Amino acid sequence: MRRFGLIGAVAATLAATAALMPGWSATAAQPKASARIVSFKRDVIPLFQTNCAVCHQETVPSGGLVLLPAYAYANLANVGSVQTSMLRVAPGKPDKSYIMNKILGTHGSVRGKGNAMPIGQPPLLNSEIEIVRVWIAQGGKNN
Ligand code: HEC
Repeated sequence: MRRFGLIGAVAATLAATAALMPGWSATAAQPKASARIVSFKRDVIPLFQTNCAVCHQETVPSGGLVLLPAYAYANLANVGSVQTSMLRVAPGKPDKSYIMNKILGTHGSVRGKGNAMPIGQPPLLNSEIEIVRVWIAQGGKNN
C-alpha cells in the first residue's frame, strides 16, 4: 500500500507538471501540430474566421457551408459535402475529408467542383493546412 501511495504521488506530480506545460500558440518555438493535441476551438476556428468566414457566413453561406465559430463544427463533422459524395470532414480520415481537397486544391482529383479555398486569397500556409489535417486525424472533435 505504501509503495502504491508513492507511485500515486509521483503520477500526480507528473500530471500536475503536464498541466502546467504551455499550450500551443502561433510562435515559431512551439511544437508542430502533429506533436500535440490540436483544439478545434483554439486552433482551427481562428483559421476559419480569418480566412473563410467572410464568405462562409450565415446569411448567404457560400457552398451551403457556415464557418463562423457557433456553426462551424455542426457544418463539418460527418456532414456530406454539396459538391461531392464525400464528407466535408470524415473524423479520423483527412484523406477522405473534402475540406482537405478544397484547401489543398486537389478537389478535381476527387471529382469535386469549383475553386480551391480560400477563393481570391493566397492558399493557407502549410502550417495552417497541417493544423486542419491533424485536427481531423485526431478524430475531428469539438474540442
Ligand atoms: C471569397 C469567398 C470564399 C472564401 C474566402 C472561402 N470560400 Fe469556400 N466556397 C466559396 C464558394 C463560392 C463555394 C462554392 C463554389 C466553389 O467551390 O468554388 C465554396 C465552397 C467551399 C467548400 C465546399 C462545400 C461543399 O459542401 O461541397 C468548402 C469545403 C469550402 N468552401 C471551404 C472553405 C474554407 C476552409 C475556406 C477558408 C480557408 C474557404 N472555403 C474560403 C467561397 C469562399
